[in-house]
Amino acid sequence: MIGIFIFAAFLQAVAHGCRPLYTPFFGWKSCSPNDKDIGSVCTFECNDTHYLRGSKERQCTQNHEWSGAPTECILKPECILPLHYLFEDKIQAECSAHRIVKLTEVCSFSCNEIFQLIGPNQLTCQLNGLLTDEKRGRQTYPSCHSVRNPCKNSSCPQLCRFVSGRAQCFCAEGFALTENGRTCSDIDECSIKNGGCDGVCHNTVGNFTCSCDEGYVPSEVDRYSCVDVDECKENNGGCVDICENFQGGYQCLCSEGYHVHPDGKSCIVLQCPPLLPPEHGDVYPPSCKDGTIQVKEKCIFTCLQGFRIAGQEVFTCNNNLKWDVKNDTQCLPETDAFIVCPEDITVELMPNETSAEIFLVAPKSNIEPILVRPDWISLDRVNFFPAKETKVMFYVEDSYNKAECNISVFVIDKEPPFPRLPRDPLRDRIRLAGAPSWTGRNRLQSTMWELPPL
Ligand SMILES: *[C@@H]1O[C@H](CO)[C@@H](O)[C@H](O)[C@H]1NC(C)=O
Ligand SMILES: *[C@@H]1O[C@H](CO)[C@@H](O)[C@H](O)[C@H]1NC(C)=O
Ligand SMILES: *[C@@H]1O[C@H](CO)[C@@H](O)[C@H](O)[C@H]1NC(C)=O
Ligand SMILES: *[C@@H]1O[C@H](CO)[C@@H](O)[C@H](O)[C@H]1NC(C)=O
Ligand SMILES: *[C@@H]1O[C@H](CO)[C@@H](O)[C@H](O)[C@H]1NC(C)=O
Ligand SMILES: *[C@@H]1O[C@H](CO)[C@@H](O)[C@H](O)[C@H]1NC(C)=O
Repeated sequence: MIGIFIFAAFLQAVAHGCRPLYTPFFGWKSCSPNDKDIGSVCTFECNDTHYLRGSKERQCTQNHEWSGAPTECILKPECILPLHYLFEDKIQAECSAHRIVKLTEVCSFSCNEIFQLIGPNQLTCQLNGLLTDEKRGRQTYPSCHSVRNPCKNSSCPQLCRFVSGRAQCFCAEGFALTENGRTCSDIDECSIKNGGCDGVCHNTVGNFTCSCDEGYVPSEVDRYSCVDVDECKENNGGCVDICENFQGGYQCLCSEGYHVHPDGKSCIVLQCPPLLPPEHGDVYPPSCKDGTIQVKEKCIFTCLQGFRIAGQEVFTCNNNLKWDVKNDTQCLPETDAFIVCPEDITVELMPNETSAEIFLVAPKSNIEPILVRPDWISLDRVNFFPAKETKVMFYVEDSYNKAECNISVFVIDKEPPFPRLPRDPLRDRIRLAGAPSWTGRNRLQSTMWELPPL
């Protein structure tokens, strides 16, 4: 009786529409307007971990049946990348989550430069849990194969690099590829800023070296620098006395009174060479003849009895260790005629004077008498000299000899020429030109005195 009743209810439900659908495990169902009337539509969804099998949408039809196929939420499969891809150098695999790939997710593959990828460059995780090449629908894993390296048979002169599938020539350090790209030529590093060398730069094939100028040695800091050698450090630079170092060299010096020998190392006393007296002569001090006279010391030539000296008498030892020879020195026999003039005379006129009265002393001579020109001049008395230069010649003469010498007498008038008064003899003054000394070296004295009243 109860069974019949249930059956009747079932028939009634069927008569009204379709049997309600179950909500799938791990999914949702939503129906409208409800889940059993004819014309109702139910849609299904699965949560993330599952995928939907069957129909996503079903409708209750006139014949009281749902359209489509029963709906299920099935656990999504996981595809796993074969382990060896993780340890392969040649090939790189990039998957969404390391090795484990979810449904519809992708793994991409690529090869290192010099290898070529054989097979698909992408695999997709499929429902069957296999990574599959979607284009071909096959499960084929890619691999990397070495390709012919274009550098292997390149015409590169030195080095070849495999860059984006092509051979690219380049040269070793120190070389440059020529324009045609077929040869590598040496770079002359020295032509640019001397290669950075402090001293001398030497270009070599593919490189260069630096060396140092004399007096310098290579620094330990780098291959370019040079440092000064302190030559004095070792054996005093070979100097006998003082050694002085400077950048790039050194020099020997000597203590005071000594001079560096031409060998540049030893020291010699500053002495002039022996000074030999003229014939019939001698030299004072006698050490002059030994070459032991030092710088600034003097030697004097003298003549033997019966001879007189002519030319230079005093010699000084110069700093250059040479005698200051200005002239030839001779000892001439006393019998030869000679005459030694006083020096030129210069006097100034007193105011109102028109001429100067000058007393001329006879020059020294070994012959008498001493004659004078012009004729109006007399020796050993006062002469009137006009206000100008008067040339006076003294001369001696005998049957064998002749000698002469000249002086000038300058009378300077500082006054304007006019007016002038007649002379007042009482107030006249006489100037006396003193006698010359024997050597003729002393300056002549010009003395003045008042004449006694007439
Ligand atoms: C998936 O569905 C199951 C069962 O309904 C539930 O326990 C789980 O939390 C759901 N997961 C997600 C991510 O919604
Ligand atoms: C290298 O190149 C030469 C001529 O360009 C060719 O004859 C030879 O077969 C090549 N060798 C390889 C290994 O490609
Ligand atoms: C050039 O010479 C220097 C010094 O000997 C060396 O350090 C450097 O490596 C060389 N360079 C090349 C390109 O050979
Ligand atoms: C040197 O002698 C010449 C002729 O012998 C003479 O003219 C000259 O004045 C003399 N020089 C000195 C400085 O004595
Ligand atoms: C020079 O002459 C002037 C004019 O007669 C006179 O005044 C003066 O005293 C004279 N001077 C001397 C130094 O005789
Ligand atoms: C002196 O002067 C006279 C005439 O001016 C001249 O001929 C002569 O050569 C001079 N003598 C000397 C030694 O200068």
